[in-house]
Amino acid sequence: MRVLVAGATGAIGRQLIPQLVAAGHQVTATTRSAAKLHALRAAGADPLMLDGLDAAAVGTLVARTEPEVIVHEMTAIPAAMNFRKFGQTFAATNKLRTTGLDHLLAAARAHGVRRFIAQSYAGWPNARSGGSVKTEDDPLDPDPPAAMRTTLDAIRYLEHAVTTAPLDGLALRYGSLYGPGSSEAFVRLLRRRQVPVIGSGAGVWSFLHVTDAAGATVAAVERGAPGIYNIVDDEPAAVSEWLPVMARAAGARPPLRVPAWVGRLAAGEAGLVMMTQVRGCSNARAKQELGWQPVWPSWRTGFGGGLARAYPAGQS
Ligand SMILES: NC(=O)c1ccc[n+]([C@@H]2O[C@H](COP(=O)([O-])OP(=O)(O)OC[C@H]3O[C@@H](n4cnc5c(N)ncnc54)[C@H](OP(=O)(O)O)[C@@H]3O)[C@@H](O)[C@H]2O)c1
Repeated sequence: MRVLVAGATGAIGRQLIPQLVAAGHQVTATTRSAAKLHALRAAGADPLMLDGLDAAAVGTLVARTEPEVIVHEMTAIPAAMNFRKFGQTFAATNKLRTTGLDHLLAAARAHGVRRFIAQSYAGWPNARSGGSVKTEDDPLDPDPPAAMRTTLDAIRYLEHAVTTAPLDGLALRYGSLYGPGSSEAFVRLLRRRQVPVIGSGAGVWSFLHVTDAAGATVAAVERGAPGIYNIVDDEPAAVSEWLPVMARAAGARPPLRVPAWVGRLAAGEAGLVMMTQVRGCSNARAKQELGWQPVWPSWRTGFGGGLARAYPAGQS
């Protein structure tokens, strides 16, 4: 199929392009940077420059390349997360989830694109009540911390727009990524012992190796009913469980433990919620509907394979 990947140079895009090409698709891949065109061509795609916030440019590119499927992987996420400034951290990404999405969807409609895949997020957007593992049918957080509200609004907007558009729209809620190109900053913090277990450490996270994010996206390009899919590994786990394992895999000493009130001071309300209250996600629908299986079904083995190999001890 002719597939347009908007935002092809990020952590997911770099894994996705070779997998789409290997599956036999004809891929157009975009970046804003002339310096990155060569790498996209080397990966087997037809590279083009695109600013996703330029509506006219988006329309022209879609008209010219006539994709059958569009994949929206445009984000602007800083490598180092600042939970205290959650809204600012995601402001540019939220613009791409709303305005950038609108431009792509409008172009898709205008030029007869039949399938549209967009990046969403699995984990903290879930309601922080009830069971610790959520499906796509469970509600999102009706009352998120103030700092997280605009980002949750953008995620809601994206999922609604994609799944109600007059084409086959799929929103992929990727879990917390790890692996090449996605964990460097976190590994550095772990090695400096700057990521403590806060309070109970009962927040449940769902992880995803970047290779598996790409694999699920190829599956979503090729099949699956329109809708929302959690793309996560098989083992949602509490912070108190996974953080020490991740630290060991990164060659760091065990994480410190701090009381909740210290955590709130250091990481803000959003940071405290991430460490103590968030819920994990089930991947049953993605397995069933997309016929997808993660290559790395558990972070237990994935961190060892992904982190230690990607960032040999001694690099900080
Ligand atoms: N689910 C998750 O946990 C998750 C998901 C995504 C990312 N992340 C993490 O966030 C960090 C940064 O992500 P990333 O490496 O994917 O990089 P990123 O800076 O978020 O960029 C992602 C893609 O969006 C494109 N882009 C950004 N602004 C654009 C615009 N205005 N118009 C068109 N394209 C635009 C970039 O292209 P150019 O810059 O080449 O133009 C790039 O291809 C990584 O550590 C990653 O692991 C986590």
